[in-house]
Amino acid sequence: MNSPLWTLDEIVAATGARVGSGFKQATGASIDTRTLEPGDLYFAIKGDVHDGHDFVPAALEKGASGAVVSEEKAAAFSSDKLIIVPDVLDAMRQLGRAARKRTDAKIVAITGSVGKTGTKEAMRLALSRQGATHASVASYNNHWGVPLTLSRMPRETTFGVFEIGMNHAHEILPLTAMVRPHVAVITTIEPVHIEFFPSLWGIADAKGEIFSGIEPGGTAVINRDSPYFERMKAHALASAAGRVISFGENEAADIRAERIIVKPDQSIVEARVFGQPITYRIGTAGRHIALNSLSVLATCHALGADLALVALSFADLKPPVGRGERTMLRMGADEALLIDESYNANPASMRAALANLGAVELSRQARRIAVLGDMKELGEKGPGLHEELAEAIESNKIDLVFAAGPLMQNLVDRLPKAKVVLHAQTSAELVDEVCAAIRPGYAVMVKGSLSMKMALVVKALKERYGASATAHALKG
Ligand SMILES: Nc1ncnc2c1ncn2[C@@H]1O[C@H](COP(=O)(O)OP(=O)(O)O)[C@@H](O)[C@H]1O
Ligand SMILES: [Mg+2]
Repeated sequence: MNSPLWTLDEIVAATGARVGSGFKQATGASIDTRTLEPGDLYFAIKGDVHDGHDFVPAALEKGASGAVVSEEKAAAFSSDKLIIVPDVLDAMRQLGRAARKRTDAKIVAITGSVGKTGTKEAMRLALSRQGATHASVASYNNHWGVPLTLSRMPRETTFGVFEIGMNHAHEILPLTAMVRPHVAVITTIEPVHIEFFPSLWGIADAKGEIFSGIEPGGTAVINRDSPYFERMKAHALASAAGRVISFGENEAADIRAERIIVKPDQSIVEARVFGQPITYRIGTAGRHIALNSLSVLATCHALGADLALVALSFADLKPPVGRGERTMLRMGADEALLIDESYNANPASMRAALANLGAVELSRQARRIAVLGDMKELGEKGPGLHEELAEAIESNKIDLVFAAGPLMQNLVDRLPKAKVVLHAQTSAELVDEVCAAIRPGYAVMVKGSLSMKMALVVKALKERYGASATAHALKG
């Protein structure tokens, strides 16, 4: 049997906690009773809405090995499995640092405006074939997500892959200091969360913070196609990094895509890794996914992994939920294509998604339908950034648009009237008409900020038409 994730002694050494007599050891770590597994150490973290202390009894009921609670609240519980600390989040950070300290794993940290989770999952897929790989769950990339992921890292890990996110300057600094990556990646710099930044230069600087935590002699992986490449590189050179590897389509990129072919359900990439040719298939359609794969090659190269195996692994890459997942909607003997991008949206990912819809080959009478919800958190630039989507609608031959949300008015006003089937305030109001508009052979893509609940439209389409898993060409 593997040794436990955390022994009693290790927890005490890391946190200085007072531990109840009922606690023995932990086999996992959790902050959420809905996903807690028996044996997990439960951290009663205080969030924006809930205080985890309210769920301590539920956690113990579900088989938590112990509950980390604050001194202040401990008296409220009678269990002998309490682990009492001054501050629960601090204790989780301390355990995270202890996990980092005890491991011999090669550690990767990923940030960027878009593509963090997709790149992290591609990295997990690639590295797990070459050693025990531990990676962040979902988008656990913030002040609790990063320490939680660290504290979950098994002692036998060979590769650790961490997503690191931010909404404000200086948020990445403490997280990268905790993760101490051997390789740190910045995927892209784009207008995301810009309401808190005066310009994209500020975003480039904030993302550049990731290099401050890099291990001496480590590697910085940077997007060569970005207008902010030099700025990011300057941050890397000012850090302890010993090396910068660039990726992109730019001729100067160390890991360079020479050709990207996007098919209905996959992409083919012809690339060069420091001049050496490599060709591979990615099981997910999209130029942006192909570009992200270059950063995976760069990282794996820096880690000394077998790049042939890495390239082979890309064939099995599937889009994370709501980020480009394709399904066929059954319409009698025929079918239509649904591209589910409902997880979230910002100008960069919206453009990428519209380009993906544009790349779907249709028979002549078929139509491309975009169902779009507001992109949030763009501050005063929001209206203009919505308006600008009109060009992408045009260049990607989108025939019909359904729109939800007040900001979408800016786009709707720029589009030919005949193109806009319906503009409503909420996604729920679009459901019936979207379902009614689909015909055999059509392709429909659904995308918007998470709070716009565009997933309602996806769910309705799947329920109405029944969905089959694999997407294939519509033409034929
Ligand atoms: N390099 C990229 N350029 C533009 N859009 C991208 C890129 N990589 C991913 N996306 C899109 O951005 C959205 C968010 O992707 P995700 O991997 O979840 O990013 P993050 O974790 O940074 O939010 C998805 O719709 C995805 O298809
Ligand atoms: Mg993410």
